[in-house]
Amino acid sequence: MGIRYLADQRLFKLDAGDASYIIGIVDEEQFLGHVYFGRRISDSFIHSDSLMRINESPFVPSKNNRDRLSFYDTFPSEYPTHGIGDFRETCLGILDSGGHTASKLEFVSYEIMKGKPPLDGLPATFGNDEDCTTLKIVCLDRILNLEVILLYTAFEHLNVITRSAVIRNSGNDPISLTKALSCCVDLDGNDYDIISLHGSWARERHIQRIPMGLGKKVISSNRGEPGHQYNPFVAVAESDATEDFGEVYGFNLVYSGNFYACVEGTQFEAARIVMGINPTDFRWLLEPGQEFTAPEVVMVYSYQGIGGMTRTFHDLYRKHLIRSSYRDRKRPILINNWEATYFNFDTEKLLAIAREASSLGIEMLVMDDGWFGRRNSDNCSLGDWVVNEEKLKGGLRHLVDEVNKLGMGFGIWFEPEMVSPDSDLYRAHPEWCIHIEGRTAGLARNQYVLDLANPEVADAVYDMMKKILSEANITYVKWDMNRPLTDLGSNWLPPERQGELSHRYILAVYKMMDRLTTDFPHILLENCSGGGARFDPGMLYYGPQIWCSDNTDAIDRLIIQRGTAMVYPLSTIGAHVSDCPNHTVNRTTPFETRGYVALAGTFGYELDVTKIPEEDRKMIPEQVKMYHKYNDLIREGDYYRIADFSDNHLYDAWMVVSKDKKEALVTYIQVYQRPNHRSRRIRLKGLDENTVYRDSLTGESCSGSALMYAGINITGLYGDFRGKLIHLTAV
Ligand code: GLA
Repeated sequence: MGIRYLADQRLFKLDAGDASYIIGIVDEEQFLGHVYFGRRISDSFIHSDSLMRINESPFVPSKNNRDRLSFYDTFPSEYPTHGIGDFRETCLGILDSGGHTASKLEFVSYEIMKGKPPLDGLPATFGNDEDCTTLKIVCLDRILNLEVILLYTAFEHLNVITRSAVIRNSGNDPISLTKALSCCVDLDGNDYDIISLHGSWARERHIQRIPMGLGKKVISSNRGEPGHQYNPFVAVAESDATEDFGEVYGFNLVYSGNFYACVEGTQFEAARIVMGINPTDFRWLLEPGQEFTAPEVVMVYSYQGIGGMTRTFHDLYRKHLIRSSYRDRKRPILINNWEATYFNFDTEKLLAIAREASSLGIEMLVMDDGWFGRRNSDNCSLGDWVVNEEKLKGGLRHLVDEVNKLGMGFGIWFEPEMVSPDSDLYRAHPEWCIHIEGRTAGLARNQYVLDLANPEVADAVYDMMKKILSEANITYVKWDMNRPLTDLGSNWLPPERQGELSHRYILAVYKMMDRLTTDFPHILLENCSGGGARFDPGMLYYGPQIWCSDNTDAIDRLIIQRGTAMVYPLSTIGAHVSDCPNHTVNRTTPFETRGYVALAGTFGYELDVTKIPEEDRKMIPEQVKMYHKYNDLIREGDYYRIADFSDNHLYDAWMVVSKDKKEALVTYIQVYQRPNHRSRRIRLKGLDENTVYRDSLTGESCSGSALMYAGINITGLYGDFRGKLIHLTAV
């Protein structure tokens, strides 16, 4: 069992892979404290009291109450509550029927079980009885009769602990939750760096690393989705940790709505990390007997640097989060018409693209925005999910059948969560959009957000989608979401539950996605949000891939995909070869290089294949072959970073090594040509020292140790934006 209660020491020991996580129960008042999270340790006596510093004056939880506040404010609490003296970030905020905000939790009981129970209505990692063990700790506020059930799962073979909390009102009066975070971890020491992913539209998930220092560093979103700006991920790394060495703790919230992560450097050389739903725009009413479930936080421990953390996240998400039947399969190579035609297309144009594409080996046509209502620009028709037969003459079925006849699959774009003011849906139901009565709601991209918390609205939209998807042989859906939530008001919720809208909204999105993937299990669902504004583990539970960014420029993508892949597997990263000059940044890069960069993702095309230069088109069959040759390795292998263009401003390099270490693919991109510079030596990673590998391009053989420690020389590249693949197989 990965989790045990060591009764003589009054502690819970959670062992996950090479990591241990230890929770102590303190004195007769039953405080639940954090003892340790780090490299796996043996069971023999653990100095939990001394590690939690509960005997050090003045921080003793003495019965006479004399220095109680000093205790609360320094104690490494597993789930700190607001209002009693812990002045750091807390997890739980309440408003009781008397208008008070304080609560205090005591340990009551525990249960250890094999496997992992699902979380009510929420996406979460999963595992069977052999994969993981779960600990449920019941805590209670005896005055309020408020129960908090802390859930911990330890994965047997991965350095992963997941956490969540269920909060139940067992009393007789209503209680409102004003803050209900999912985890708190107090680490000793303050010599840490904080790593997070930041950006903007077309510039998502750039890595930021800063010293922790003292005070709070918050990474959060109140946009109703994570947004382009932040990702629900934060890592705390030893300040000298590198890609390959040192201790790193990664935290990722399995949630697609408003999130909050805070790293606080506190007064006595300690770090507190909390994560969960953003308390801004959150208030949840618990009537007697009701309960609330907080989303899951995945906590990864690595003593092998950032790269070790990355590979653990990848393994976990590939095996224990993504449910889609496409998870372990090569995805069809698709061609999407967005950058090819934007709104200006009809059946003939799409078929012309499909004909050419299929002759080159492309396997699916995806029809993007513009096929429904009267949508010829982004001014109208969201919500009217009815085929525009003026554009699609002969209807959707005819188009799909013709595409199928070419041997290609067919995919379609939806933006189910939105409504245009100029739409039949809005004219019939203006009250169905999120807005505050009497206040003009703000438009973004000319659209409002539908109040999906209202089941009638969600059902109406889903029924329209279902009709379209049942009408023809559609095997892929791109589910888009192109504006944040504002003007939070729901006609459906009573005043005392308006604060629940943001969370209820995302629960409704999850429910719709669940219905979609249950009713159409053969459909490959790709999530998207104005590019990559909703790239989070919650989405991956429903669809195995997410459109990474609207910026398809190969050079910008190096940075965007590098940041994304710090947490998310390459198999989840939507990446396409597009036309040049690039539509977002006007840069021209070689077609070959665009292929190498897209290869480190799902791989596909986003261009008018009937219009691109002949020499580019000729390269497509080669790229298709390349994809089929390497995708199994890229989708399932271990990912290693060799060099970051964002750091060195010259070149980028990464590699993927098969789990059995018999095969590896190195990608090297020379972003800028350096004058008076002949070649560059890079050192490979992750190979087996004693295996001899053969470079399939040059035919040369070399030992793993030589490739990793002496390195290889990259030669023969001349000019900017040039790339190279090196494929190694064990001899
Ligand atoms: C978003 C997506 C794009 C495209 C457009 C269509 O911006 O990210 O890929 O689908 O919407 O309007």
